Amino acid sequence: MSDYTPKKRSNTIYGGYEKAPNRAFLKAMGLTDNDISKPIVGVAVAWNEAGPCNIHLLGLSNIVKEGVRSAGGTPRVFTAPVVIDGIAMGSEGMKYSLVSREIVANTVELVVNAHGYDAFVALAGCDKTPPGMMMAMARLNIPSIIMYGGSTLPGDYKGKPITIQDVYEAVGAYSKGKITAEDLRLMEDNAIPGPGTCGGLYTANTMGLITEALGLALPGSSSPPAVDAMRTRYAFETGKALMHLVEIGLRPRDILTFEAFENAITVLMASGGSTNAVLHLLAIAHEAGVKLTLEDFDRISMRTPEIVNMKPGGEYVMADLHRVGGAPLLMKKLLEAGLLHGDVMTVTGKTVKQNLAEYKIPPIPHEHIVRDVKNPFAPTGGIRILKGNLAEEGAVMKVSASKIKYHKGPAKVFNSEEEAFKAVLEGKIQENDVVVIRYEGPKGGPGMREMLAVTSAIVGQGLGEKVALITDGRFSGATRGIMVGHVAPEAAVGGTIALLKDGDIIVIDADKGKLEVELTAEELKKRKDEWSPPPPRYKSGLLAQYSKLVSSSSRGAVLLT
Ligand code: FES
Repeated sequence: MSDYTPKKRSNTIYGGYEKAPNRAFLKAMGLTDNDISKPIVGVAVAWNEAGPCNIHLLGLSNIVKEGVRSAGGTPRVFTAPVVIDGIAMGSEGMKYSLVSREIVANTVELVVNAHGYDAFVALAGCDKTPPGMMMAMARLNIPSIIMYGGSTLPGDYKGKPITIQDVYEAVGAYSKGKITAEDLRLMEDNAIPGPGTCGGLYTANTMGLITEALGLALPGSSSPPAVDAMRTRYAFETGKALMHLVEIGLRPRDILTFEAFENAITVLMASGGSTNAVLHLLAIAHEAGVKLTLEDFDRISMRTPEIVNMKPGGEYVMADLHRVGGAPLLMKKLLEAGLLHGDVMTVTGKTVKQNLAEYKIPPIPHEHIVRDVKNPFAPTGGIRILKGNLAEEGAVMKVSASKIKYHKGPAKVFNSEEEAFKAVLEGKIQENDVVVIRYEGPKGGPGMREMLAVTSAIVGQGLGEKVALITDGRFSGATRGIMVGHVAPEAAVGGTIALLKDGDIIVIDADKGKLEVELTAEELKKRKDEWSPPPPRYKSGLLAQYSKLVSSSSRGAVLLT
């Protein structure tokens, strides 16, 4: 296991006569000598009042603290920022979304290391906060555990369950006169009935499942809705479980082996989860010192059947998955089919196999949401990695988001999301077009914005399966249609996507894993010689700093110094 010793870190800050001033600061907050003598553990809460996704987490942190105290620790809560992707979407604000993942990881490092905490619990919700927290766990490598905060309950539109995805798509439908202003307003008022993350298997819920699949969260803890009483119980148990990790000295890198990442990718592919998880798993692996590549995703996708029926590609939401058994049900099916490594360690101090043997699956029908591996919804995984002269490092396609696996058509090229969105709303996109949105990569955007507004408008206008979209930016987990993102190298560094012109013929072939433009190598070279990088969009501030340090999406868009 490891050479971790409880109190070793906090003693350097609070032990010995010379640290009396430091203890005085703690005593000023009501702590006693007894409290200070125990392991001092951080409770890192991604929290603010920006949106509903994490709004309940501060309350849950109090329950986590009780769990920590009950097992002999002294908890100290601190917050990390949250960018609510659904609100930032479609605006300049979205450029800060992926940046916030690094800020969350950095915030945890900053507070935990500056104050010598011995261990920490991470509470996360909206899209970038679970990966940011898991990156911090891998980076600091002290006993730590994550709890995902859970999703919202389904919304309602005239008696039909809806999610925020329906509201985005309703904007496109309204712009075409397909629905009334009153319909749009009804959806706006009732899509999100309370606290928690967006309901479908979008990015936040995908990363929630991954907290369990990696072995970093308690089994079953990701699926209870935010308002479910079970969430309170998991919060208490998570605090307690952290102290067990402290006791046995089990650390994240003991858990985050290559096989643990293979398990997480298998769960991602079997569930048809968000393409953003590719980026985030690469980044967590980078922090853990595990060599993971895009090829690993494609290899596992090709051997993993898709067995989950959840939005955006399917019908159900996280609350439905929870009712039938949550992540453990899915993992059990995959383990029994020999698709998961059962002997990898987890935060329970037990292996995946041991955890799943103990977990009680509710005795109710679940085949409408999670099928057996032998009877899948699709024979292979929900995501494919495409390569070709248009994406030499790779690109990511969510094949579960569309029935169409092959598209060939003329490029309509836009240099920003706004340009493309305007063209869609003005009806300038025709059937068979390939909408190209570039200079939206990690460096060029910067921040790799998600194109949900554009893709939803396309779907809302009835062009969902007739128009393709490729970008060096990202897609929301709620995106559906023929969409290829994460095209690398990105336009800002002179990737082929920067060289495209209107009318170039683009071929997307998911079965063959190809993304090509029908241009000769000579023509591409000629265009490359004529190309020069545009000036950076930001000259100062956070986005300028980020743009300088960020790496390719094929490496997880991690910051490299
Ligand atoms: Fe936070 Fe969707 S906007 S989870």
